[in-house]
Amino acid sequence: MAKKSILDLQSMIKKGEKIVYLTAYDYLTAKMQEKAGVDMILVGDSLGMVCLGYDTTFPVTMEDMIRHCQAVRRGAPATFVVGDMPYMSYQVSDEQAIENAGHLIKEADVDCVKLEGAGLRILSRVKAINEAGILVMGHIGLTPQFMGQLGGYKAQGRSAQAALSLINQAKLLEEAGAASILVEGVPPEVGKAITEKAGIPILGIGAGSYTHGQLLIYADMVGLYDNFTPKFVKKYANVGEVLTQAFRDYAQEVREGNFPVDAQHTYKMKDEEAVELEKMLKTQK
Ligand code: KIV
Repeated sequence: MAKKSILDLQSMIKKGEKIVYLTAYDYLTAKMQEKAGVDMILVGDSLGMVCLGYDTTFPVTMEDMIRHCQAVRRGAPATFVVGDMPYMSYQVSDEQAIENAGHLIKEADVDCVKLEGAGLRILSRVKAINEAGILVMGHIGLTPQFMGQLGGYKAQGRSAQAALSLINQAKLLEEAGAASILVEGVPPEVGKAITEKAGIPILGIGAGSYTHGQLLIYADMVGLYDNFTPKFVKKYANVGEVLTQAFRDYAQEVREGNFPVDAQHTYKMKDEEAVELEKMLKTQK
């Protein structure tokens, strides 16, 4: 299978084809997503909450991101993989941002990096990373790394003024060199206006149906992560319940001595070897 590039994504939006985007954090999930024909995978810093059990994304490090991006790349060699830049890996300076984006490219073979936020500082980071020859995805709207300033995980752009500000931010990010933008947690009107004005792929998560593509956190949409579920998540499976039931069934069979007893799950010893072993054990006593 040929590896997907930014050109494929650009050609999809020209043809009006929707881009399918999901998060993944490990080899097995990435492998299943590639098999299912997912176009893009985000190794999000949501891995801090989904895989590492933190309450927020703040503790996630570059080492965490590199390790998980590598695993995803091994599982999905032909998929367009985006690596998230974790908290404080790009906020300090353009140089820091280029250096850390470079680590994700060199060490984890991602196709693009993503960073959150808007404003002059972020525009400068996007420009710098792009000029270093690295594809960069902007991320605006509900941006978890800014949740202190946003006052929590709250939908954004709900007033006309706030919506216009987001629409303008998207344009500025594109002008600064963003190859694509992720818009999170906004009313569909905002997703629509940003998409209609854009010349680059606009992906949405909780941003309505008008964006060029849709992203969900995979653990939400398969019912694995249940600490909280945002309003925009649709559950396509209840894998958490399936796994919990499997663990319960296993525990019960082990406790009752019913696993492993059948021939299918045990290695066979030839009868004569078993008799011989019996004899040897007796003489050893
Ligand atoms: O880290 C992540 O998975 C993200 C999504 C919340 C959009 O950035």
